[in-house]
Amino acid sequence: MFHTILCDMLEIRYPILMGAMQGAGKPRLVAAVSEAGGLGVLPTFGETEADLLRQIEETRALTDKPFGVNITPVGRAFTEKRAAICIDQRIPVVTTGLGDPGPDAVGAMRSHGIKVIPVVPTVRHALRVEAEGADAIVASGTEGGGHVGYIATLPLVPQVVDAVKVPVVAAGGIGDGRGFLAALALGAVGAQLGTRLICTPEAQDPGWYKEMILATNEEGTIVSKALTGKTTRAFATAEVRAYEEARLRGLSGEELKPFERAVRQGRKKGEDYEGARQAVVGQICGMLKNEGDIKPVAQVIEDMIQQAAELARRTASML
Ligand SMILES: Cc1cc2nc3c(=O)[nH]c(=O)nc-3n(C[C@H](O)[C@H](O)[C@H](O)COP(=O)(O)O)c2cc1C
Repeated sequence: MFHTILCDMLEIRYPILMGAMQGAGKPRLVAAVSEAGGLGVLPTFGETEADLLRQIEETRALTDKPFGVNITPVGRAFTEKRAAICIDQRIPVVTTGLGDPGPDAVGAMRSHGIKVIPVVPTVRHALRVEAEGADAIVASGTEGGGHVGYIATLPLVPQVVDAVKVPVVAAGGIGDGRGFLAALALGAVGAQLGTRLICTPEAQDPGWYKEMILATNEEGTIVSKALTGKTTRAFATAEVRAYEEARLRGLSGEELKPFERAVRQGRKKGEDYEGARQAVVGQICGMLKNEGDIKPVAQVIEDMIQQAAELARRTASML
């Protein structure tokens, strides 16, 4: 069901990619997504090379199915070193996060048979990574958690689909079968999920992360540079709101520093400190409301596919 070109390209059952999630996307979750028929993806942003190697080993101990690695291209040396590890480790698929991986890293990985799938926030970026040799592209709307641009998934995906020749996967704001089917209707060959997968028992996050997602509605997120210096969708905590209000009042970079510190110090202090709860999350957190929404990964994926199938049948009967 819903077998697309992405399933053949990545040798997966369902056209569902796990969005890499720094901090949240650990081996147990990655393996669970691959076991459930999607493609699990390990993050590398913020991880040392030794961490990455250990996590690849841990994931391999949990699944025989293919899984990918994500490289956030934060600089040429970082990107090329992570690409070399992926080549050495015979990783079949690499997704890249916000930023340009560059033609050298893309070319090196592809020449070793790795499928390279960059994540992009605009048509302009999509055209650039296609020219660099991308095998497929994830078009990621502003609704998603983590680093995002400003264009929403609904207008972004069809514009990227029209602009490039390679297959396009939709990301940002996909939380159930309705979003999955909508992604296919927009011309995508699959969907990438982030926030939805945090609310699973396999996600090894501090408990407060899931609790905070359940307690947050669709108005409870904000795009801000306060967390990483790049536009990032996160919980709209008092600290992040204070930073954004100060920025809108026109404070200079220097004057914004204390506000930025209030956000970033909190991130370092650990889970028992209230301020640590400066975390990234997507707008679908409003769809996740109670303990019953914390479901095993396999059930999240099966429910998504079944709901989409039922909806497709109902929609077809209207024709
Ligand atoms: C906790 C978290 C961490 C993330 N870290 C990364 C990352 O390291 N690299 C990356 O390319 N994308 C990252 N993202 C973005 C996701 O891979 C994915 O594209 C996004 O979550 C999709 O939107 P959704 O949250 O609405 O499903 C992160 C998202 C979340 C929620």
